[in-house]
Amino acid sequence: MSDAPTYPPRGELVIRTIAMPANTNSNGDMFGGWLVSQMDLGGAILARNTARSRITTVAIDAMSFHDPVYVGDIVSCHALLGKTGRTSMRIEVEAWAQRHKGGEHVRVTTGIFTYVAIDDHGRPQPVHR
Ligand SMILES: CC(C)(COP(=O)(O)OP(=O)(O)OC[C@H]1O[C@@H](n2cnc3c(N)ncnc32)[C@H](O)[C@@H]1OP(=O)(O)O)[C@@H](O)C(=O)NCCC(=O)NCCS
Repeated sequence: MSDAPTYPPRGELVIRTIAMPANTNSNGDMFGGWLVSQMDLGGAILARNTARSRITTVAIDAMSFHDPVYVGDIVSCHALLGKTGRTSMRIEVEAWAQRHKGGEHVRVTTGIFTYVAIDDHGRPQPVHR
């Protein structure tokens, strides 16, 4: 049995956008920091909807860049809620690129983002209140 990732992945589709030339690195491929920010935004959408409050990113772990993203690819981020603590939420985020040329779906990046539910003063508060 192959353990190759299959599309669509588990988890909620939280971001869908097109990779634009403004965000390229010196190789002409998409800048890794741009992709991480999309994943952070995507995970934050799920975290915010889960906690129904402000949230903030406290940690990013296990980031892996599996394949490059090219200009014109359609990039989608999928977020899956993992362990929920008292105030924190671990969310697995996968980014997939649908190639501009050919249309195939490729899993390009994976990471685990941890968010903390916070109150209006930026202090941690329970996820489930
Ligand atoms: C997130 C923040 C509010 C947490 O405040 P804190 O005083 O450290 O709070 P706590 O120690 O009570 O930790 C809160 C939760 O975060 C978790 N946590 C803290 N640091 C963590 C880390 N490095 N990795 C994973 N979880 C972490 C704790 O385990 C706890 O989870 P739980 O309540 O589910 O058990 C504070 O650290 C902060 O404001 N950080 C900056 C966040 C930010 O600006 N993010 C954007 C970066 S540009």
